[in-house]
Amino acid sequence: MKKENYNVAVVGATGAVGEEMREVLEERLFPIGELRLLASERSAGQVLKFGKKKICVEILRENSFKDIDIALFAAGGAVSAKFAPMAVDQGAVVIDNTAQFRMEPEVPLVVPEVNPQEIAHHVRRGIVANPNCSTIQLVVALKPIHDVAHIRRVVVSSYQSVSGAGRSGINELSQQSIALFNGGELKRAKFPHQIAFNLLPEIGSFKDDGYTSEEWKMAAETRKIMHEPELPLSATCVRVPVYIGHSAAVHVELSRTMEAEEASEILREAPGIAVQDDPAVSFYPQPWASTGRDEVFVGRIRQDSSHPKGLVFWVVCDNLRKGAALNALQIAEEMISRKLV
Ligand SMILES: NC(=O)c1ccc[n+]([C@@H]2O[C@H](COP(=O)([O-])OP(=O)(O)OC[C@H]3O[C@@H](n4cnc5c(N)ncnc54)[C@H](OP(=O)(O)O)[C@@H]3O)[C@@H](O)[C@H]2O)c1
Repeated sequence: MKKENYNVAVVGATGAVGEEMREVLEERLFPIGELRLLASERSAGQVLKFGKKKICVEILRENSFKDIDIALFAAGGAVSAKFAPMAVDQGAVVIDNTAQFRMEPEVPLVVPEVNPQEIAHHVRRGIVANPNCSTIQLVVALKPIHDVAHIRRVVVSSYQSVSGAGRSGINELSQQSIALFNGGELKRAKFPHQIAFNLLPEIGSFKDDGYTSEEWKMAAETRKIMHEPELPLSATCVRVPVYIGHSAAVHVELSRTMEAEEASEILREAPGIAVQDDPAVSFYPQPWASTGRDEVFVGRIRQDSSHPKGLVFWVVCDNLRKGAALNALQIAEEMISRKLV
């Protein structure tokens, strides 16, 4: 029987994704009984607002999940590796934002607009994984096109904001920008080089084949979500000095020629997408305008001049929201409506 209210724990509640989770939980009037906010000893005792309530942040411990129905994890892979199985043992379903379980065959990797049916498989491990932020916006845009004309190849270049690297990424861009204007010393910890007024074609760690772990995740996760294990996909992921909102230039090769108008029509009808595409008035998706919005924005839709069956478009979305917190809560809502929790 469907419950009226669910006890929810947010692990990493003080982080960039955790803060967005609290906001989205409140905005969507999620049916919450108790909300437990968990973080490390660094933030223990901090009091955070949730609606009219004030909730004290607790230290994440082995027994933190007693009576919790849904545990939303956003505190890094090592924390999920250790504590997610404990949450499951204590009776919670886990929705995990980290990369820890995403590629495990028994763990569904879900974007509700694309593969909601996968959620039911969570019963094997008790964990549903939320994909990488740049993967989520990509598959939301690819799926409706793929349903109409099979995608044979994808080449994507992403322009990813510093909030994708968490609070410390945001702080590093601020510190460096202020220092550059004031002649101060630039501090560097999170990114390998200066990020203010710069671009870094390095997100994650380099692999032997020359790709980074972020680029590898985009390819592997897209294949898993779209059930296309052989889909050729090559990504170049670039960190840019933007606070919130990831952008991507996407080139796809289809099984047939598709006019830009048809692609635009398909994308306009697709769930979770807003098309912003009017070159005459310079109307196209931009990261600053995507901040705080739920949609995946698509624009600059055109045929690829280098390939007769090619299509090109530009995709932007709030990486903290649809790229993380909102997608996780949509999974939770889907679980509730399917009586899986
Ligand atoms: N940022 C994004 O766009 C994005 C998108 C998708 C997925 N993710 C994933 O989500 C996770 C969190 O990302 P974020 O951007 O929110 O990072 P963040 O801003 O650095 O926040 C990290 C959070 O984890 C908590 N934490 C760290 N170590 C902990 C420990 N040992 N025990 C308990 N809590 C601990 C921190 O608590 P304290 O305040 O106590 O330090 C903080 O609340 C990462 O795995 C990331 O890959 C991020």
